[in-house]
Amino acid sequence: MELPFAEPYKIKMIETIHRSSREQREQWIKDANYNLFNLRSNQVFIDLLTDSGTGAMSDKQWSEIMLGDESYAGASSYYKMKSAIKEIFGFDYFLPTHQGRAAENVLFSALVKEGDVVPGNTHFDTTKGHIEFRKAEAIDCTIDEAFDTTIYHPFKGNVDLEKLEHVFKTHSPGKIPFIIVTITCNSSGGQPVSLENLKEVKKLSEKYNVPLIIDSARFAENAYFIKKREIDQQNRSIRDIVKDIFSLADGMTMSSKKDAIVNIGGFIALRDSALFQKASVFNIMFEGFLTYGGLAGRDLNALAQGLYEGIEFEYLESRIQQVAFLGSKLTEYGVPLQLPYGGHAIFVDAGKALSHIPKEHFRAQTLAVEIYLESGVRAVEIGAIMADRDPVTRENRFPALELVRLAIPRRVYTNDHMNYVAVAVANVYERRNQIKTGFAIAYEAPILRHFTIALSKI
Ligand code: F0G
Repeated sequence: MELPFAEPYKIKMIETIHRSSREQREQWIKDANYNLFNLRSNQVFIDLLTDSGTGAMSDKQWSEIMLGDESYAGASSYYKMKSAIKEIFGFDYFLPTHQGRAAENVLFSALVKEGDVVPGNTHFDTTKGHIEFRKAEAIDCTIDEAFDTTIYHPFKGNVDLEKLEHVFKTHSPGKIPFIIVTITCNSSGGQPVSLENLKEVKKLSEKYNVPLIIDSARFAENAYFIKKREIDQQNRSIRDIVKDIFSLADGMTMSSKKDAIVNIGGFIALRDSALFQKASVFNIMFEGFLTYGGLAGRDLNALAQGLYEGIEFEYLESRIQQVAFLGSKLTEYGVPLQLPYGGHAIFVDAGKALSHIPKEHFRAQTLAVEIYLESGVRAVEIGAIMADRDPVTRENRFPALELVRLAIPRRVYTNDHMNYVAVAVANVYERRNQIKTGFAIAYEAPILRHFTIALSKI
């Protein structure tokens, strides 16, 4: 018999998690104004709100924490990161930031101005938020296949080259500071972008003289999918694929809380010294001196180590297989999902599952709350609430996909936990027709409203 696959690590430390009764959860979620972000973590049994900053660091990363150099300027931890970035991504210039959106804030402060447009595959919410906050527009150029959950396309994160070229043709070059490609594309379901597509995007970016920035939060998972799914890539190492990806880019923003498996951290890496200098000014203003950028030396150390661990094939295989395990269980139970399964999460098609309730009731949020009530599993809405209002008309935006994301933290849960989640979601799906109403908005912030929204039951 062929030996089955198993995780390339064992567990050294555990953390207790808490079960609860349905009655308790009903009270807690009501007190939380039906906003899952407002729950206390001890009111949650299995937390799939996000895979961001929630991973389990390794013994080596914890050792690096002890070795952190806390010097204000010129710390060895900074140079450890600098050499990891050069070695893995090939960039000469880098700025540490405290997380991904801080990297966006710093870089976009240097590049984005009112009236600009920033094309990309579906921008992550903070990315879009930082563009719209500057009165610029994020233009979604993702391929159409991404918006039909039933179509199997190996690279649903791909940029539609015609849509992109149309943006380039209809706006003067001075109005397009860069194109940003998010790998994997979180908002379309943790879907990868192919190397071939990135090469074509690069050709267009050169033709129209628009820099290419990669939002790299899940770059290693993207590289894994390229190795698994793209012609002629099977025999290449993750490292070589990562090198190829970033050789195409003029720069990257990174939330290290995902594929670098740290609890906090981010960075910007760049090729151009003039842009680095311009962005440095904002880094000092918003984040901190250039050699720490809002992070402790120990964080930089753990991050550098995590970057190397995050691109190990064996680790990535176990990671992506666990996500697929949850996906296959849910498929078995007939739950409609974004296909193929994403890299960091399974995305339940709430628009389909709750198609019988009006979209104005926020179907994805309704489903996420029902899953919590059923089981204590916390998922997150990736739907109309997260889509915010149109900045001009102030009307609710109803995106093509209403999804509930079950994001799997890295190296944290076992497949027994995945089984529990699958049954929880299946139970809700089975009684979906008894769910007749959703939610109305009682309070919302003007931007990125999903974090603090208060809802009332309809
Ligand atoms: N880009 C992508 C693709 C992301 O998924 C995130 C965060 C960010 C940028 C911002 O990074 O959180 O470090 O400031 N995604 C988290 C999530 C929050 O749950 O998907 P950050």
